[in-house]
Amino acid sequence: MTLHGELGSGKTTLVRGLLRARGVSGPVKSPTYALVEHYPLSSLYFYHFDFYRFVTPNEWDSAGMSDYFRDDAVCIVEWPERVGDLLPVPDLALSLSYATDGGRDLVAEAFTVAGEQCLSALAASATG
Ligand SMILES: Nc1ncnc2c1ncn2[C@@H]1O[C@H](COP(=O)(O)OP(=O)(O)OP(=O)(O)O)[C@@H](O)[C@H]1O
Ligand SMILES: [Mg+2]
Repeated sequence: MTLHGELGSGKTTLVRGLLRARGVSGPVKSPTYALVEHYPLSSLYFYHFDFYRFVTPNEWDSAGMSDYFRDDAVCIVEWPERVGDLLPVPDLALSLSYATDGGRDLVAEAFTVAGEQCLSALAASATG
């Protein structure tokens, strides 16, 4: 899943919320310098990326980035624009923007069947 939105639009906060919902109580910091942070969840691999400081495509290979994007891993990517075509097609792309009430607006787009199923489940839970 990719997270789009300008600086401070709430990408890291959204990831923190997802991890809290999965029972992670420790710190959830932006992986701006490390590029990736791993969270041990019982049933899946969870990786949080922030490519804001990603500069050259060589970094993708030298850091072994493609090894993270496996079927058994949840990968959430801030600043996907920085890596461009190197990034696999995401199941979902979420775009955050500032709302007039001080909160945030969210637009979600699915690119795969799994992504569509996720949005359907979300819509079903929202309407009850
Ligand atoms: N839904 C929200 N409503 C109100 N404030 C929010 C919301 N989401 C995040 N914020 C606030 O916005 C600030 C920036 O949030 P955050 O660090 O998550 O942004 P970001 O998109 O990850 O930024 P960056 O591009 O620098 O990584 C924080 O102070 C956070 O509390
Ligand atoms: Mg962030």
